[in-house]
Amino acid sequence: MAVPNYAILPVVEADLPFLAKFIHASKLRLSINRLLFEDWPNETIQMKMYTGAVTSGFKDPATECFKAVDAESNEIIGYFVLARKRPAQEPPEYELGANPDHETPEGLNPSLFAEVMTASAEIARATKNTDFFEPRFQRHGVGAKLVQLGFDRARAENIPFALCAEAPAHEFYVKLGFKETQRADIDLSKYAPAYSGFGIFRLTGMVWYP
Ligand SMILES: CC(C)(COP(=O)(O)OP(=O)(O)OC[C@H]1O[C@@H](n2cnc3c(N)ncnc32)[C@H](O)[C@@H]1OP(=O)(O)O)[C@@H](O)C(=O)NCCC(=O)NCCS
Repeated sequence: MAVPNYAILPVVEADLPFLAKFIHASKLRLSINRLLFEDWPNETIQMKMYTGAVTSGFKDPATECFKAVDAESNEIIGYFVLARKRPAQEPPEYELGANPDHETPEGLNPSLFAEVMTASAEIARATKNTDFFEPRFQRHGVGAKLVQLGFDRARAENIPFALCAEAPAHEFYVKLGFKETQRADIDLSKYAPAYSGFGIFRLTGMVWYP
């Protein structure tokens, strides 16, 4: 595939509806979501969640939101959020694992949601007393370039750059030089018919030091 000619720009409010659809499209590929959302694909609930996530990320003064925009079509082809964390700071409400006792949002499997929250909170605890940046982004082609923004910020402040990697992105981060800090495994077979192809879904805490 030809390398797209693109620019990296700050997200503006008008981008939010598109970014919610962008995340939705990307998350459709994530095996765990097939079991997490009841009445799959439950477009209404998924869109409500992703709209909430991009909006609160955008409004949080501790985050910087970036988009990669194709130079010819002006289309958004990548999305990246960096959150500057301070010691002892509570995670923002929109962040997975922010509150392990969180009430299950409408339309989600309560037991699996509780496991995801516990797993995410376990990983978040390891970095609780550290400053770090965390990225979230979608789509192919420009991932390494977007992560570079996080490396630049981490170098400038001499702080670690930490994230929680979903299983399909794990090797991507390894390739960029992140090291594992911990793992949280969720057994999806408990939520699916026997022998239907679901197994362990892993979330991995990862860190990169300048
Ligand atoms: C993971 C993701 C961001 C990678 O972005 P990308 O733009 O395809 O990655 P790049 O083209 O910058 O790849 C950089 C390097 O990592 C490798 N790589 C990318 N994704 C990989 C993967 N899933 N497994 C192994 N290697 C991977 C590339 O081959 C490339 O290697 P090279 O330098 O030797 O050529 C992208 O697949 C994506 O958006 N996935 C869906 C959302 C997601 O998973 N986000 C992360 C949530 S934690």
